[in-house]
Amino acid sequence: MSSGMHWWIVLLVVGNTLGMWWLIWWASRPRAGEAATGDVTGHTWDGDLQEYNNPLPRWWLWLFYITIGFTAIYLAVYPGLGKFRGLFGWSQEGQYETEVDRADDTYGPIFASYAGQDIEALAKDPEALQVGQRLFVTYCAQCHGSDAKGARGFPNLTDAVWNWGGTPEAIKTSILQGRMGVMPPFGPVLGEEGTENVANYVLSLSGRESDATKAAAGKALFDTQCVACHMPDGTGNQALGAPNLTDDDWLYGGSLQTVMATLTGGRNGQMPAHQQFLGDDKSHVLAAYVYSLSQPK
Ligand code: HEC
Ligand code: HEC
Repeated sequence: MSSGMHWWIVLLVVGNTLGMWWLIWWASRPRAGEAATGDVTGHTWDGDLQEYNNPLPRWWLWLFYITIGFTAIYLAVYPGLGKFRGLFGWSQEGQYETEVDRADDTYGPIFASYAGQDIEALAKDPEALQVGQRLFVTYCAQCHGSDAKGARGFPNLTDAVWNWGGTPEAIKTSILQGRMGVMPPFGPVLGEEGTENVANYVLSLSGRESDATKAAAGKALFDTQCVACHMPDGTGNQALGAPNLTDDDWLYGGSLQTVMATLTGGRNGQMPAHQQFLGDDKSHVLAAYVYSLSQPK
């Protein structure tokens, strides 16, 4: 805040407060020529309604003075007068930071002790899993669902299918650094017929119903365009997040129409990075929770 702004605000606040004081004093002062207290003033409406000169009750008047007194005390203690921070230096951020520090003091050691254990061991600790589940519901459920079973475009984390890897380390890396799936659009490269042929070949890989002639024509295209990421046998590559196309488990859908849409327009699923936001220790507990979901009970 510039010092011009500071003094402007001080002037407005002090001026308004003194102004209110003056207004109350001025309005409650007896005036020359007015009717005596309790008498009619002479104003009438509709011939019957008459105005009496009755002052505000004293206690009411005093309420106004008390609120003005409160203003003075409040402005002395809390920030409000421009840059003046109040006698105790209270601030919203300060209060927030104190509360966060207090929470860190309480929970920090718990997370630190979890961080010292490896993820596989932690995934068998019921208490750690409870903490992990609570974190999951808060930070992950809006995309992956509160049961972690995902939705279209958001992977199911409870099964054995992993696009980026299901080891404890891979899961933790997914959480900390995020993941960005890059499936380029092939519409222009393949053309409409080519797209339909490759899509039929893709469906045949997982034993779905497909047109054998089109699939055979599609294989040649697959072998030139797709194998770099999805591998020659179509089983995918976790280093790139390229899904296994042979397992009949689909991130976006396995109908002919959906596969053709995937090929034509490409796909770019994004898992946001959580390192900055959650830090190492919480991500560690979350990784253990997610890892536990796909382990046989
Ligand atoms: C540059 C690497 C790359 C190439 C080349 C590539 N893909 Fe992909 N593909 C991916 C990635 C990564 C994904 C996952 C996208 C995501 O997570 O949003 C994917 C997703 C898909 C899916 C969706 C699977 C599902 O579970 O819904 C299909 C189908 C697919 N690719 C088929 C193909 C075919 C057919 C080709 C060749 C025409 C091809 N891809 C070429 C990287 C590639
Ligand atoms: C804004 C939505 C969003 C949020 C929030 C989110 N995710 Fe994800 N997550 C995704 C998407 C989308 C993918 C798939 C990326 C891709 O297409 O490859 C993903 C992928 C993953 C994967 C990799 C799955 C695989 O098959 O390898 C893991 C593990 C994961 N998320 C865990 C989490 C956890 C734990 C949290 C909470 C801290 C979280 N996610 C929060 C959207 C989200």
